[in-house]
Amino acid sequence: MREYLPDCIRNLMFELDRQAKMNNGIVSQILSGIKFTEKALEPFVYGKHPTNESYGRKLIWDNGDYNILLMTWRPGDFTAIHNHGYTEWGGVYFFGEATHRLYRVENDEMSIIRKNVFLRGEVASVCGDLTHLMGNSGDHDIITLHVYGSNTRNENVSEDAKVYVPEFQKIFTTMGSAYLNMNKTLILSEKPFENIEHDVLADYFSLVKPFYERNKMAGVLKRMDNYLNHN
Ligand SMILES: [Fe+2]
Repeated sequence: MREYLPDCIRNLMFELDRQAKMNNGIVSQILSGIKFTEKALEPFVYGKHPTNESYGRKLIWDNGDYNILLMTWRPGDFTAIHNHGYTEWGGVYFFGEATHRLYRVENDEMSIIRKNVFLRGEVASVCGDLTHLMGNSGDHDIITLHVYGSNTRNENVSEDAKVYVPEFQKIFTTMGSAYLNMNKTLILSEKPFENIEHDVLADYFSLVKPFYERNKMAGVLKRMDNYLNHN
């Protein structure tokens, strides 16, 4: 139902479709060149997401080669630490200030490479092996527009996403969702995640704490404090 989509999304699809082979440079250029407005994307805003979805995730379009999603972030909404599975190219357009962390993962050992914020109008690149976290540390809702694609797959481009959840000492594999407190039905497989550096843990807990506080999840908060104090 392409004809019912806002003009800015149809422009985006037109630009994506006419590329023979896509890469992060091209997708960034495309995202930077289109005039997106919050008003046009209003039908996809999902602010009233349930507790087990730690941000609003609405699929706008999926043609197999790529998908387009709108994320809605209430104050305190965060992803878990995650990568993007089979995604070969992708990008994010920011409509507001978002907190971001970039990690390096080697042999299941994790370190922080960069702490930054993305500002309104900025574009970030995303591909499968990028491990990061994103969220809203501000005091009002923001939205972000995401495109994930592949040159070699024609379905489920975000499958095999790894989601690191230090508060439960687990690594989950999903089809692309990266929620904190994720519903079990979204988890394809899991394994333990135990060797986490204290500074990574302290920084991560400080970011995701407001989400668990807002949802009055005292058990998880206590678990995080205990884990931090014994790590
Ligand atoms: Fe991501």
